Amino acid sequence: GAPVDVNIGKLSPGQMTTVSWRGKPVYLVHRTDRMLESLPELNDEVQDPDSRVVEQQPPFAANIYRAREEHKRYLVVVGICTHLGCAPTYRPEVAPDDLGDDWKGGFFCPCHGSKFDISGRVYKGVPAPTNLEVPPYVYVSGDIVRVG
Ligand code: FES
Repeated sequence: GAPVDVNIGKLSPGQMTTVSWRGKPVYLVHRTDRMLESLPELNDEVQDPDSRVVEQQPPFAANIYRAREEHKRYLVVVGICTHLGCAPTYRPEVAPDDLGDDWKGGFFCPCHGSKFDISGRVYKGVPAPTNLEVPPYVYVSGDIVRVG
């Protein structure tokens, strides 16, 4: 499939957009300061905090932000649950039902309850075995992300 260019310049903080790439949904999120600050705080609650499972991201995204340092404001992730392939829902603020009030934002899979943080890192104790996949992508300008 061809690469897909996405203009992220109009995404406001906390906003997500979805594009289709090779038939897969790709989520792009403009993360807020609070979201970025939550990531190191969640390291003990997620299965693979430093993104060591090499198949789940390009090498540049093997860190807690799952992005290059200079572009860590934006998350780019495949919107397919790593359990059985449902579409996780974006939950920037409000906790998914019955998950408690300490929710810091991320993704919730309605099929079997897997939870992912705002880097797509999978929480411990849920069915999904790995972090969400980060696709290959590059910035072709300050605002344009080319996925693929
Ligand atoms: Fe997402 Fe099972 S498909 S939790």
